[in-house]
Amino acid sequence: MQRSWKDLRGRAFPDQWSLMFGQIAFYSFVVVLVTGLILMVPYDASLDPVVYDGPYAPLRGVTMSKALDSTLAISFEMRAGLLVRQIHHWASLLMVAMIMLHLLRLFFTGGFRRPRRLSWLVVFGLFLATLGAAQTGTSLPDDMLSGSSLAVIDGVLKSIPFVGTYLSMFVFGGDFPGDVIKLFYPLHVYVLPAVIVGLFVVAGVLAIKRGPAQYPGPGRTNDNVVGQSAAVAAVKSAGLFCFVLGVSLLLGATATINPIWLYGPADPADASAGIGPAWYLAFLDGGLRLTPGWEVDVWGRTLTLAILLPVTLCTLFLVLFALYPFIEDWVLGDRSDQNLLEHPRNNPTRTGIGVAGITFYGILWAAAGADTIALKFNLSFNALIHVFQLLLIVGPPAALLLTRRICVSLQTRALDEAVHGIETGRIVRLPDGGYVEDHRSLDPYKRWNLAGYTEAPAASHAHRLQTRLANLLNLDHVTPPVSSKAEVSRTEERSGRADRAARGRGELPRP
Ligand code: HEM
Repeated sequence: MQRSWKDLRGRAFPDQWSLMFGQIAFYSFVVVLVTGLILMVPYDASLDPVVYDGPYAPLRGVTMSKALDSTLAISFEMRAGLLVRQIHHWASLLMVAMIMLHLLRLFFTGGFRRPRRLSWLVVFGLFLATLGAAQTGTSLPDDMLSGSSLAVIDGVLKSIPFVGTYLSMFVFGGDFPGDVIKLFYPLHVYVLPAVIVGLFVVAGVLAIKRGPAQYPGPGRTNDNVVGQSAAVAAVKSAGLFCFVLGVSLLLGATATINPIWLYGPADPADASAGIGPAWYLAFLDGGLRLTPGWEVDVWGRTLTLAILLPVTLCTLFLVLFALYPFIEDWVLGDRSDQNLLEHPRNNPTRTGIGVAGITFYGILWAAAGADTIALKFNLSFNALIHVFQLLLIVGPPAALLLTRRICVSLQTRALDEAVHGIETGRIVRLPDGGYVEDHRSLDPYKRWNLAGYTEAPAASHAHRLQTRLANLLNLDHVTPPVSSKAEVSRTEERSGRADRAARGRGELPRP
């Protein structure tokens, strides 16, 4: 369904709470952009050493970089500087979280299907660019926390066979720690924000051209959007911006984030217990912790599998996630446009794959905190690592199977409710002496929601592999009894008439 810019004002916009994630991500970026521009003025992107002489007594006399010195000055000497820094940091975390949720929503509802496969790639690109911006940003203060995460990045780069050392020298401008800020600063304040703005613009243009996908409901079809007017949607969106601004302000004013004065200056020779990566990159760190220290010799060179394996696995995970819409499209061979979203329970295999992915990510994520968990709960660190290793192998397949079974049960129950109505628990005696349970019929929207979806597309391919995979993907689709708008309304009419007749005979209570 191609749309033109001219009909924008007269168009209907779907009204669903989960459509807010993308908007919140964009508004957090606006907050990040404005606060970032303010921080640019006092921040000094230089690793030249200075002796700290500011108001924070515990660090007075300590030699540190100008970058850390200026960030401390922003925090303690600039009016509202700490507030601006904290708002910048909190809003950037909100942005990462919202883009993740947006991607998950698109995945679980099939919002990535034709004609929105390009939009999916754009959102995925946004996700990567935002992670890059957040990682380069946390390195800018040059405190011990950022130094530790840079040491991990250096190790990962150096483990890449043949080109690793050169890559590390390029990133760090010589031997680690080198002058990483020379590269990271322009990346953080010019390149990545420009990429993010570009991707948001492309995402917006695509959304306007294609129109948003909507959940099934009465009157909603592949070509007809039912929802609020453009004016109402715009006012609500403006309200959402105020809300995002308010939440960022509140968090920035009340919740401490990244207290660099407690960590002190970065030093490649120092590390501190309990230090970990930012939560959104923790899964990579978890991967490093769970792989045994394997090494192999190839052509006289030692390859460190302990790093190569988790990095390859995590990259593969992200690539598969990004390409999933294309894989599903190829497997199903369905070339039609899909403007109606799916309820996750109606696509058990895709939902199962999604939950398996979340389980994989979650286990790696938890493993990144293994040392803290072991310390807090007085557990053996080695035993904990073995448990996580086992969970990483059995967890994702178990999650897939379990989720599929849960989805099938939910579908069966939903269809039962759609056809028979909700059980009220009231037993009514019939004139002929029999007993029936009173079922309350559903409102049309709920009935649509439960049973108004279309059946899984039939696979028609030449390749045996495609057919097999398609059957696997379509497995456990409970066929809805009503698959078109007309049939749904006929069912509603029939059940309405039957309810009225039963009430007339006194078999059902009057509403
Ligand atoms: C035009 C856009 C941006 C500008 C001009 C900018 C500027 C800056 C500057 C100067 C700093 C160092 C000062 C400090 O650490 O307090 C900084 C830190 C940071 N930036 Fe940005 N930034 C921008 C965009 C972003 C984006 C898109 C993200 C992530 C989504 C981000 C995340 C961060 C983080 C996490 C820090 C560390 C904050 C801290 O010290 O606690 N920034 N930024």
